Amino acid sequence: MGLLEGKRLLVTGVLTDSSIAYNVAKLAQEEGAQVVLTGFGRLSLVERIAKRLPEPPPVVELDVQNGEHLDTLADRVGEHLDGLDGVVHSIGFAPQTCLGGNFLNTAWEDVATAVHVSTFSFKSLAVACLPLMKEGGAIVGLDFDATKAWPVYDWMGVAKAGLESCSRYLARDLGKHGIRVNLVAAGPLRTMAAKSIPGFQEFEESWPDRAPLGWDLGDTAPAARACVALLSDWFPATTGEIVHVDGGVHAMGG
Ligand SMILES: NC(=O)c1ccc[n+]([C@@H]2O[C@H](COP(=O)([O-])OP(=O)(O)OC[C@H]3O[C@@H](n4cnc5c(N)ncnc54)[C@H](O)[C@@H]3O)[C@@H](O)[C@H]2O)c1
Repeated sequence: MGLLEGKRLLVTGVLTDSSIAYNVAKLAQEEGAQVVLTGFGRLSLVERIAKRLPEPPPVVELDVQNGEHLDTLADRVGEHLDGLDGVVHSIGFAPQTCLGGNFLNTAWEDVATAVHVSTFSFKSLAVACLPLMKEGGAIVGLDFDATKAWPVYDWMGVAKAGLESCSRYLARDLGKHGIRVNLVAAGPLRTMAAKSIPGFQEFEESWPDRAPLGWDLGDTAPAARACVALLSDWFPATTGEIVHVDGGVHAMGG
């Protein structure tokens, strides 16, 4: 019996097969879940990638900045699943001006976009899915440790600090619905989102050396496994938590 046998999941954030969300969807299906994906922008690309999964899942359109997409999400997902037991938020975006060492000069409009897509959307997605989560369940988001100021990560780091706080408030307000809300703080991984960060190689060079367990920048499986575990019934009393899947870097000094 799989860890997610009988679970109905909505997984956002699949763009390529290197997306963290792609591996979450794959592992979730292997563990017995029924999956629906959301796609942003290039839907035909997401549909093509979805076909590589063990069970090609339906793809529904979602731009988290589009109010109509959010308002109709439950109905559109409801055409494929009769409810949801889990939701994965694997969405992040910041305009180039927000990244790469321009911290002191970034305009508010660009910061607002980063926070809208990467932070506020965690709340929007949770609220949009609530009508389908009548039996409770789990919401999991993807984080990058926001307790420190990193090189080049800049306003995305601020957006992630907001995501960490947003996750705790969601845990507070959704607990009464039997919904757990947790984050997986992954180490750096070579995805499209990471490649768009100027200077990302600074992380690539130091992380594997600093991690007591070592770190493979090309392997999204450890982060995906943590997501699947948090979506399962094996964390029944855990909410508002951040699980670090970073080879141990967050715990090291120096
Ligand atoms: N790659 C890393 O090093 C790393 C580390 C820790 C956390 N994360 C987080 O993991 C999550 C997934 O990123 P990834 O690394 O798999 O990269 P990715 O580029 O594969 O995924 C990012 C996703 O965000 C989606 N997206 C962007 N704007 C959107 C919008 N307006 N509406 C809906 N979706 C939108 C994209 O379509 C894409 O699917 C992000 O939250 C990212 O910050 C990534």
